[in-house]
Amino acid sequence: MNTTNPNNQNAIKEFSRFSKDYNSYNQIQAQVAKQLINKLPSRNYKIIADIGCGTGALYDRLVSREIFFGRLVALDASEQMLLLHPSDQRVVTQYFDFNEPGSFSSIKDKFDLVLSSSALQWSRDLGWTISQLAHIGDNFYGAIFTSNTFKTLHETASVASPIYTPEEIKKAFDKSYKNTQYEIYRYKLYFDSKKDLFNYIKKSGVSGGEQKLSYKQTKTLMREFPLDYLEFEVVFIEASN
Ligand SMILES: C[S@@+](CC[C@H](N)C(=O)[O-])C[C@H]1O[C@@H](n2cnc3c(N)ncnc32)[C@H](O)[C@@H]1O
Repeated sequence: MNTTNPNNQNAIKEFSRFSKDYNSYNQIQAQVAKQLINKLPSRNYKIIADIGCGTGALYDRLVSREIFFGRLVALDASEQMLLLHPSDQRVVTQYFDFNEPGSFSSIKDKFDLVLSSSALQWSRDLGWTISQLAHIGDNFYGAIFTSNTFKTLHETASVASPIYTPEEIKKAFDKSYKNTQYEIYRYKLYFDSKKDLFNYIKKSGVSGGEQKLSYKQTKTLMREFPLDYLEFEVVFIEASN
């Protein structure tokens, strides 16, 4: 069964004005991690994988929601991120690149839950990455930013989004899992000034950065960008075999 819940198509979370305080640059990802963990149907897992774990947002949410797990394998392609992951007797951190066959063959476990939040938009070949994830566990819960993130910004600059469309994401999961469910959430992050807004894009690391604009193009974009907020769109996926 492949369904999209129409009631959630337009769920928009509006954030109060962007503030410069602690962790502001991860405000959206933190919210996404929280919503993802809130969707888990069970309070008890033997062994969980966290793909693109970063500094442990999912671990933090699992602990604060008091979801029990015997072991959590936290996987990331950045050694610096892995070093910042909280340590716990139940946690193993491991270098892992979801674009590399060698990373998948180094995984010897079969997970009862595979999680991934705000990371898989950077897969080079999403269909392939998802097919590999389906081999390491039958149950996947994840959240992926879509190409509608920064939609108006991309339209104003006449550039294409570097990340996958919601349709491409759904196609990748439908190919590798028997049961899939999708929900689209949209978020808005408000700024006091265009300068703050453009600084956020630079510092947040969510822009993809493939198509760098020249100084002149950036100036024009800052002048013409019509919004005082940034748009984010995330597809939440539940998939099982
Ligand atoms: C935006 S962060 C999200 C981190 C965390 N999951 C969260 O929800 O806060 C994206 C993470 O994906 C990791 N990442 C990017 N490309 C990757 C790859 N090819 N293989 C594994 N991890 C990758 C980055 O190192 C980073 O830690």
